[in-house]
Amino acid sequence: MTILKMSDVKLKGKRVLIREDLNVPLKHHEITSDIRIQAAVPTIKMALKAGAKVMIMSHLGRPEEGVFDENFSLAPIARRLSELLKMEVPLIHKWINGVNMGDHDVVMLENVRFNDGETDNSTSLAKKMAALCDVYVMDAFATSHRSESSTCGIIDYAPIACAGPLLLSELEALTNIMQKPKHPVVAIVGGSKVSTKLSLLESLVHKVDTLIIGGGIANTFIAAEGYTVGKSLYEADLIDEAERLSLTAKDRGAEIIVPTDVVVAEKLNEESESSARLVSQIDDNEKIYDIGPDTIKKITGIIKKAKTILWNGPVGAFEVKQFSEGTEAIAEAIASSSGFSVAGGGDTLAAIQNFNVADKIDYISTGGGAFLSFLEGKPLPAIAALEARTKNDEKVT
Ligand code: 3PG
Repeated sequence: MTILKMSDVKLKGKRVLIREDLNVPLKHHEITSDIRIQAAVPTIKMALKAGAKVMIMSHLGRPEEGVFDENFSLAPIARRLSELLKMEVPLIHKWINGVNMGDHDVVMLENVRFNDGETDNSTSLAKKMAALCDVYVMDAFATSHRSESSTCGIIDYAPIACAGPLLLSELEALTNIMQKPKHPVVAIVGGSKVSTKLSLLESLVHKVDTLIIGGGIANTFIAAEGYTVGKSLYEADLIDEAERLSLTAKDRGAEIIVPTDVVVAEKLNEESESSARLVSQIDDNEKIYDIGPDTIKKITGIIKKAKTILWNGPVGAFEVKQFSEGTEAIAEAIASSSGFSVAGGGDTLAAIQNFNVADKIDYISTGGGAFLSFLEGKPLPAIAALEARTKNDEKVT
C-alpha cells in the first residue's frame, strides 16, 4: 500500500488541515473518555513542530446537518485539547468560507457534520474544505470507514493530501495482527448484538485459536446451546448462525468459548440484587449482566497463555459495579499477559480507561466501526481515496 505520509511533506509555513476523529463520549457535556483526543496529540504536535499553521477538524455524534446544535459542539473537545497541548485552541464556528487563524498556530473547526452534505460526501463541500488548506492530512483512522466530504471527497481536491501518523500506525498494527499473528491467537468479542458483530465473528472464526464470546451477544450463543436466558435479549433468528460459527471453529480445531455461568439480576442498577448462576439455572424474570466466576477463571487462564490477543467489546455491563467483574478481570488478564494485545471499539476504550490498563495494552485502536471494518476485511473508503490520490500524483510527476 503506497500512501503519501505527512512526515514526507514540507509543512513549514503551510496551512495544514488535519482531519482527526475526536468523536468522544460525553455525559452532560463532560468528556468521559479522552483516548481519541490523546491519540491525536502527537500528530498535531508534529505538524506544529514542523512550522505549520494547523486547523483541526472532526465530527462529533450525528447532528442534523445544516443546523448548529450545542449538544454536538466541539467546545469541550477544544478545551481538553488546549489542556493536552498546553496552548489555547480556539474553536472557529463559521469556517467553511475561510479561516482567519489570527495569531494562533492551531485552531479547531466546529463539528464538520454541521455542514450540509458532509455525510453524503458532497463534492461542492469537499472543494470548499480543500480550499482552506495547502496540505490536508487524513489522520482519523476511526472515521476512515465513512465516505464523507471531510474524510474522502476532500482528498481529490486538496493541493496535497496525505496520511497522518496516527492513521498509519493503526493500519500497521492491525495489518500485523491480522496477517502474521503469533499463535495461540485469542479474540474476545463482546457487545450487545450478534447481528452487529456477525461479520467480525465470521472473519475471526477463520483466524483465531480461541474466540471468547461475552456481553449481550453471548445470550444468543447460550440459547443456541439449548438454555433459556430469562428476560435477557437474544436474537432467536441468529441461533443457526451461532451454531454454524461454533461448528466452523470446531472443524478447524479452534474453539468458541461461551459463558457457562453468568451474573444475573432483575434490573440494571447499583441497587439491584445480583447473583451468579450456571447458565442452566437462569430464572424467567432474570437478565444476564455479566459473566460468572467459573467463566472468568477459564477465560483469564486462556488469555494468560495467548501470544496474540484481540479485544473488542466488554463482556458485561461494567458501568454498574456489581456487573463489572468480568470485564475488569479480562482487562487485567490482558494487561498482565505477555502476549501482544490489541484492543479497539468505543465501549472497549471506555472499559480500558475505567480499569486503568491503557499503558499495559500493546496497541489501542481509536477505531470503533473502522476497527471492526478492518478486522472484517472490508475496504476503508478514506484509505482507498488516499491510495488513489498518491498513485495519481505519482503518475503526474
Ligand atoms: C466512531 O465513533 O465509530 C466514529 O467516530 C464514526 O462515527 P459515526 O458512526 O457517527 O460515523
